[in-house]
Amino acid sequence: MSGGQPPLNDVAAADRLAAAAAAAAQAPSIHNTQPWRWRIGSRTADLYLEPSRLLPATDPDRRLATLSCGTALHHVQVALAAAGTAAEVQLLPQPDDSLHLAKITVTDHAEPMPNAQRLREAIDIRHTDRRPPQQQPLPATVIPLLQTTAANHLSGLQPLDRSKVLDLAAAVSQAQADETSDPAIRHERDTWTGTDRRSGTGVPDADIPTGPTSTAVPTRDFGHIGTLPVNEQHDDAATYAILYGFADDPRAWLRAGQALSDIWLATTAMDIALLPLSAAVETPGTRQLVNRLLEHIGYAQIAVRLAMPDRAQGAAPRTPRLPAAEIIERV
Ligand SMILES: Cc1cc2nc3c(=O)[nH]c(=O)nc-3n(C[C@H](O)[C@H](O)[C@H](O)COP(=O)(O)O)c2cc1C
Repeated sequence: MSGGQPPLNDVAAADRLAAAAAAAAQAPSIHNTQPWRWRIGSRTADLYLEPSRLLPATDPDRRLATLSCGTALHHVQVALAAAGTAAEVQLLPQPDDSLHLAKITVTDHAEPMPNAQRLREAIDIRHTDRRPPQQQPLPATVIPLLQTTAANHLSGLQPLDRSKVLDLAAAVSQAQADETSDPAIRHERDTWTGTDRRSGTGVPDADIPTGPTSTAVPTRDFGHIGTLPVNEQHDDAATYAILYGFADDPRAWLRAGQALSDIWLATTAMDIALLPLSAAVETPGTRQLVNRLLEHIGYAQIAVRLAMPDRAQGAAPRTPRLPAAEIIERV
């Protein structure tokens, strides 16, 4: 669809893909590893897992690295759509190359979509906020809306009732105890989190609370306290939910990442705070426990806490990012 404009030439298409990949550097990732790499051709962008930014002890199947790459993939799709660029996406285009996760091909101009513009603006402000939210429930319309968003990515979002929140809390506690007793996982956690992170990756102390927060489900145990001030407000008005897939393979993990990004950008645009909680799906035993909470509707990919943010606490600090030259290659 050119809408009266001349067709998009190869140089312009490559520039738009590179700009979209640069915007997608803001995507969320496990421990802020940014485990993606983009190869931009004349009309294509190929997404690869970056072997030097994986977590082999914490994430041996690369499920959370793949999910993280799915969030970056969706960020690129949003940036292209907001720039009025039509594109097709192929997941896992080379079955014999497990690092090659997706190929995006630019086809032509597209009608600019108002919702894409809204989500594109959210890319620049979305962040993980580990501070206590307000003691005010979500508006009733939010979860059904986000369930539709998840379904658009062949995924699902299941909110948990009070007793299942307790079960999730037990699974997270168990997972974090198991992980803390594993020296290789502890080493990865300590390598990727804490200090000022001048490397451009990882979670800095500024994003780690100064002490335990009062939550229904334990938040990430970083093994040390950080410098993010927190109050004593309990998160009992928050909604906990499981993002799930209809399979448990790399394609489903990528789709869950696309769904997580779409949900997170939508909640950012609605001024709702989202906190991902992945510990319970990191160890096989606790992943089974979380799967049981879903009562056979699907396979748990990640848990999320959705809540009204407490804006009185001021803006949350941002995490660093790698320079574009380290994640985008033009061929
Ligand atoms: C797959 C995935 C798993 C994550 N798991 C957790 C988690 O268990 N606890 C947590 O506090 N943050 C978690 N995060 C948030 C990341 O730490 C965060 O996205 C990253 O540090 C970048 O920061 P930002 O989201 O503020 O840009 C996760 C993010 C992703 C994409």
